[in-house]
Amino acid sequence: MHVVVVGSGIAGLTAAVRASTTHDVTLVTKGALADGATAYAQGGIAVALGADDSAVLHQQDTHVAAAGSADARAVDVLCTDGPARVRDLLALGVPFDRTTDPDALDRHGDDLARGREAAHGRWRVLHADGDATGAAVERTLVAALHRRHVTILERTCLTDLVVRDGQVVGVDVLDLLGEPRRITADAVLLASGGAGHLYRETTNPLVATGDGAAAAWRAGAVLADLEFVQFHPTRLAVPGGGLVSEAVRGEGAVLRDARGHRFMTDRHPDAELAPRDVVARGIAATARDQGGAPVVLDATGLDPAFLVARFPGLTRATLAAGYDWTRQAVPVAPAAHYAMGGVATDTEGRTSLPGLLAVGEVACTGVHGANRLASNSLLEGLVFAVRAADALGTPRPGRLRLRGDATLVPTVVPAVAAVGRASRPAVTERPSAGGRQGGPQHPADDASLRHVLQSVMTDRVGLLRDADGLAGARRLLDALPSPAPTTVRDAEDRALLDLARVTALAAAARTESRGAHARTDHPDTDPTAPPSTAWVLARPADP
Ligand code: SIN
Repeated sequence: MHVVVVGSGIAGLTAAVRASTTHDVTLVTKGALADGATAYAQGGIAVALGADDSAVLHQQDTHVAAAGSADARAVDVLCTDGPARVRDLLALGVPFDRTTDPDALDRHGDDLARGREAAHGRWRVLHADGDATGAAVERTLVAALHRRHVTILERTCLTDLVVRDGQVVGVDVLDLLGEPRRITADAVLLASGGAGHLYRETTNPLVATGDGAAAAWRAGAVLADLEFVQFHPTRLAVPGGGLVSEAVRGEGAVLRDARGHRFMTDRHPDAELAPRDVVARGIAATARDQGGAPVVLDATGLDPAFLVARFPGLTRATLAAGYDWTRQAVPVAPAAHYAMGGVATDTEGRTSLPGLLAVGEVACTGVHGANRLASNSLLEGLVFAVRAADALGTPRPGRLRLRGDATLVPTVVPAVAAVGRASRPAVTERPSAGGRQGGPQHPADDASLRHVLQSVMTDRVGLLRDADGLAGARRLLDALPSPAPTTVRDAEDRALLDLARVTALAAAARTESRGAHARTDHPDTDPTAPPSTAWVLARPADP
């Protein structure tokens, strides 16, 4: 069969390589092969490979970080399949770092160096080239792809899925020259990543505009858990600043307020290594309480030679921003990082639409619940991509089972009308509880649709939410005109607007706080609330 894979991060490359042994594969990617989020991953890949670890311990940590909302079957699959998939990477030649430390050798029973990140009870995060793990994995998988018979279409942007008689039969794209083109397929496997650019500050690369999830939604696929957006606690809080890996805190760096106090010790027993959502909110609240001045990450307690050798990329990035982090603390602030929600799938990547599969960040297996455990995303991409590739051509018996007591809610946002290029609407309502979280990362034209959308999402559907802010966000987003996808920029903006609308709707509907979804007007978790809510585009015939 002919399979179109959309995306070229760890999930897309793994799926394409695996599927190419039995199928005819075309890989479509919006930028160059290595432009996606995988190449930016610093911390590494979490996996229970050591003698002191087990799939069960990894599962427990994943569930705790997920605020008890993760899907048990998906977590079991992730942690149980994980070791074999990472051995595949080792066999392909990913240069994971090694250690000669006798304690570590004894504890783990091998010489793989391991980092620790928030909410992990074990040192289990494998890394490569210090803090350039994703780039090493991406390089290795791209090399593997080039050894296969796969048609590779770079700079080719997904605009829509083609659906015939309820079955996905291809993709519409803007090709290398910006011309619309249709590629027919027996199956489409989305691995197109997340949508960090829904927000003003993000750790994501520029290509992360939610194209795949939005196209799936417009095609009628079920999306789930969109309200669960992970904000990474520590982006370097300078214009254009990128991610500062949680692994730095794992090695002992601490967070301090303007007085030099380690404020996270007041907020959680695990302090800087509390679950990511807790640390992100702790940083934002502390910055707010000190008049907006950013908190700092202090790595000066670490041996300078160790710090530079363990985090060479971050050493360069902080120096470029004017900080010698061996001697000075660096300003940090939370930023949009990862979408726990996405296209609802089973553990083989199958979606509610026949012919459509989804894996990696674009998908929602439920494996991350309401808050992803650090460094589980590369593992997710690997594990579920292999399972989806192996499931190609084997239809699911019956309908997609929505997990827990998830309800299927038809969305009624006016997203299907394309009305040409956007003009700037007036944004006059008061900002909501979320507030700004640092300087603009990608200074955008103030008048652009994207700028307005990002402001609405950051201020009202961000780290902190409330009913008034969400209602205002919905009004403002619904008033924005959806651009026709005639250029890549317009196609991206249409995708962002579609996702922003459903995300705001999902956040308004969850009247409780859970993991990354924090409502200041509903600060407690409601034990009777469904862990997962699913959304589908309302068609004119729907009730
Ligand atoms: C980090 O290195 O802090 C990011 C890792 C992740 O998001 O899983």
